[in-house]
Amino acid sequence: MHLTRRNLIAAAIALAGTSVTFNALAAKPLVIGFSQVGAESEWRTANTVSIKDAAKKAGVTLKFADAQQRQENQVKAIRSFIAQKVDVIAFSPVVESGWDTVLREAKAAKIPVILTDRDVNVTDKSLYVTLIGSDFVEEGRRAGRWLVDYAKKTPGKVLNIVELQGTVGSAPAIDRKTGFEEVTKGNAQLKLLRTQTGEFTRAKGKEVMEAFLKAHGKNINVLYAHNDDMAIGAIQAIEEAGLKPGKDIVIVSIDGVKGAFEAMMLGKLNVTVECSPLLGPQLMQAAQDVVAGKPVAKRIVTEERVFPAEVAAKEFPNRKY
Ligand code: AHR
Repeated sequence: MHLTRRNLIAAAIALAGTSVTFNALAAKPLVIGFSQVGAESEWRTANTVSIKDAAKKAGVTLKFADAQQRQENQVKAIRSFIAQKVDVIAFSPVVESGWDTVLREAKAAKIPVILTDRDVNVTDKSLYVTLIGSDFVEEGRRAGRWLVDYAKKTPGKVLNIVELQGTVGSAPAIDRKTGFEEVTKGNAQLKLLRTQTGEFTRAKGKEVMEAFLKAHGKNINVLYAHNDDMAIGAIQAIEEAGLKPGKDIVIVSIDGVKGAFEAMMLGKLNVTVECSPLLGPQLMQAAQDVVAGKPVAKRIVTEERVFPAEVAAKEFPNRKY
């Protein structure tokens, strides 16, 4: 048999059923360049594992770059993926804005871009194929709704809230604040005392909570943390201040990682709103589809639940991250 392009493509298509995913047009295994935010949280670690495992399973060659929470590192990684002529570029953007130029470069090089987890703020939506991930505004609403219901149990009592925001300028920090405010604003029982970033990390969450406690002490009734890691850091600060997390200060957070379930089982956290990091399989599917010329939905939303402390022990054995 001659090694014509047609034969190579036929061989690639035949092999597509095996564990290697091929870019049939180029007759070579599919290559994805992925730029990850960093390793700032338990959630992020689980997300990285999910993407690496799914790539392996799909026979995709994954070029993985850790941006260490810096946008400039992500821009560099994307440019390097363009230079390497990968089949698909995927990334979870550290922040929302500032992507137009580099995404236009990817488009000019005819490399499709898939967003995972976080959104970008670009006017030209054709600069990316799809966004796979959670609805962060809805997560904020869910956290707010839980608190509104909680407040109803003590009619007339005003609850002073402190908020630990995620990374400044990131989609989850912006959206979770928006959703929470949408539901709680105008409620006479809920009063926001202070809000500050804890950068999605345990260390910063603890540090900022210490400052909140120093300024407001026992006047704080509620902590709303944009992720579980900051809540876990804050729990330490609350205990060190001689208060009981989950009782003296009610804690509402987001992600649903195992650490949060453990805290709930100890009575130190009241509720976590799920945000699934298990995006690897959907990313591989979308990448394969886009390279094969199949239609891909512009938005792929992850299905999620709310877990109050009362269900933590029952749900814990089922948690995958
Ligand atoms: O973008 C998802 C958020 O980023 C998760 O809630 C948080 O834990 C992570 O760092």
